Amino acid sequence: MASSKRDLISIEDLSDGEIEEIFDLADTMLPENRGPAQAGALGGKIMATLFYEPSTRTRLSFESSMQRLGGSVISCPDMKSSSAAKGETIADTARVVSSYADVLVVRHYWDGAAQAMAEYADVSVINAGDGSHEHPTQTLCDLYTLKKEKGDLKGLTVVICGDLKHGRTIHSLVYALARFGVNVVTLAAGGMALPQYVIEKLERERHYNLTPVSSDDLQAAMAETDALYLTPKQPHQLALFTQVDQDLQGRIKSMAAGLKFDAFYVTRKQKERMKQGNGEETAGYPSLGEGFLKEQRFKDTVVMHPLPRVDELSPAIDKDRRGIYFKQAAYGVPIRMALLKFLLSPSGVAKGRAPEKKRSLYESPESISPQCANANCVTRTESLSARPSFELLFSGPGGALILRCSYCNHQLRVEYVGHTGSRRYCLYDLSLEETFTGWLKRGELAIFDSIKQAEELGYEPYKSGAQRSILGEEEIRSAIQRMAEQIFNESENSERLVLLGVKTKGAVLARRIAAEIEVSHRGKIEVAEIEIFGSEEGIHRISEPGADAEPLSIKGRPVVIVDDVIYTGRTAKSALSIIFKAGRPRSVRLAVLVDRGHREVPVKPNYVGKHIPSSEKERVRVKLREVEQDEGDKVVIYSIISPEKSDQQSAVSS
Ligand code: NCD
Repeated sequence: MASSKRDLISIEDLSDGEIEEIFDLADTMLPENRGPAQAGALGGKIMATLFYEPSTRTRLSFESSMQRLGGSVISCPDMKSSSAAKGETIADTARVVSSYADVLVVRHYWDGAAQAMAEYADVSVINAGDGSHEHPTQTLCDLYTLKKEKGDLKGLTVVICGDLKHGRTIHSLVYALARFGVNVVTLAAGGMALPQYVIEKLERERHYNLTPVSSDDLQAAMAETDALYLTPKQPHQLALFTQVDQDLQGRIKSMAAGLKFDAFYVTRKQKERMKQGNGEETAGYPSLGEGFLKEQRFKDTVVMHPLPRVDELSPAIDKDRRGIYFKQAAYGVPIRMALLKFLLSPSGVAKGRAPEKKRSLYESPESISPQCANANCVTRTESLSARPSFELLFSGPGGALILRCSYCNHQLRVEYVGHTGSRRYCLYDLSLEETFTGWLKRGELAIFDSIKQAEELGYEPYKSGAQRSILGEEEIRSAIQRMAEQIFNESENSERLVLLGVKTKGAVLARRIAAEIEVSHRGKIEVAEIEIFGSEEGIHRISEPGADAEPLSIKGRPVVIVDDVIYTGRTAKSALSIIFKAGRPRSVRLAVLVDRGHREVPVKPNYVGKHIPSSEKERVRVKLREVEQDEGDKVVIYSIISPEKSDQQSAVSS
């Protein structure tokens, strides 16, 4: 594998400075500036286009760019007529074609396919769109267009609309907008909100925060949908708890009123990526109508679209100076010419520059590996071409250890970890971070999806310290009763109330709280479950006969999040962003059975069963009869003994 080659898989593969350099190069590639120097820049170079999905703009503008630079193009008219149809892996295709060409431009329907091909190709690979993941060269066109229209990017406000869930152009775009200091307002079609892994990446790496804003002032332009605001600016706490809902909403309103919208970026519904039968295909979709053009406040708001469009844009916008999507498509040639020159020319800026160092990657040292949560990830659709590989992120929601897939960026929560040497495993715990980091560095860390997986590989459990019960059956019962009473008394409208339990134990507690209220006040209380991680991430009705007929709406309703323990506060924060994405509730409150302290984010629970300030070295576990089966309800506390120490101890005692 050539070490000096440079790939473009994610927009994050380019630094801010490099993006600016590509823009400067693109200026020299504009039709009015092109000359003989550009025409011969890539003479003798060959580009292969491997498109496994339909394309007009991306493919033709890449091919046109290469030819305008004096290079040539080879391709299969359709990958269905290539050896892919005979069952060839993408790894083999990449290996072979990279000996025919100097650069591969790849579009594929699997998330992470371009990355997988880059690992087998000896030449540069450019991602021209991989599943729902990313489309970095579209983002270069988008940013370039925005810059040409508006000058400096910093401080602009861009409204992204439509299918934010499956739209790969959107994912690359928001990462780039955040890097250049642009405020992002999201206006998602129902059920097509920006995925949580994208939001968390923005929070973690760009310190962006998400705030719900009233969409009243946007409704004139778009069909009714809720807006969320992503911004590096204060007030971050707005996204946190609604102690006084009125106050919060007042502040959000005044913030929204001051917003100047510089651009609407509209996308089509990505029908081909929707799962059949979950209602996404038939859901309503926001569109930009003629009303938009008449609004004084949008007089300088440009309208962008990566195209193809279906019916999201009124034809009237085509004729207006603010409709700039055809210009945006035309910039595809100078931008892709600039990118090809950047990557391939001997004088190209990328020459000799080492790609940014990847963070510590986890690949299972065992024959069984945790699976990516995304069923469309290349590690799951063609494991021969891509072995599961993850970045390890410490301190996710609830102090969790998170695996982020290196191919598609979807996140997974680590449940069990083991040590390859001693062949022991235990539940992951925050307080053992240092120990586990050491194991990772030495290649001794094994991560398991389940106890079953660990045991299949012959691992045995570590012993934990002695447990001490700190809340018994009776105390838990009365704490739940007290919380139920408080929640009911503070709910103006209990028929509209939704108790949203965090999966799994929060959901059990939510059901118990609801049962208490139902007994003492004889009203039915709605209970639902919120899942923070994994493929089912989102809000789900707790099944009753016929209950899953239609999705639960929380819009405009008072919501109480219920969880067993609050510790770092990150679970509550993630829950909150999932809730806001599902539709802005009237208010959100938080109920927890145990409050441990040690908050990383300023979340204050409204209802607490018991405060148990405990040291970070301790572990507090809520055991509930419904979940543990063989035990009654209790809360236990125990010290974490480092697995390494516990090994020494057992060595001494044996
Ligand atoms: C986009 C794509 O393929 O992701 N189109 C493009 O490259 N210009 C957007 C889309 O298909 O909706």
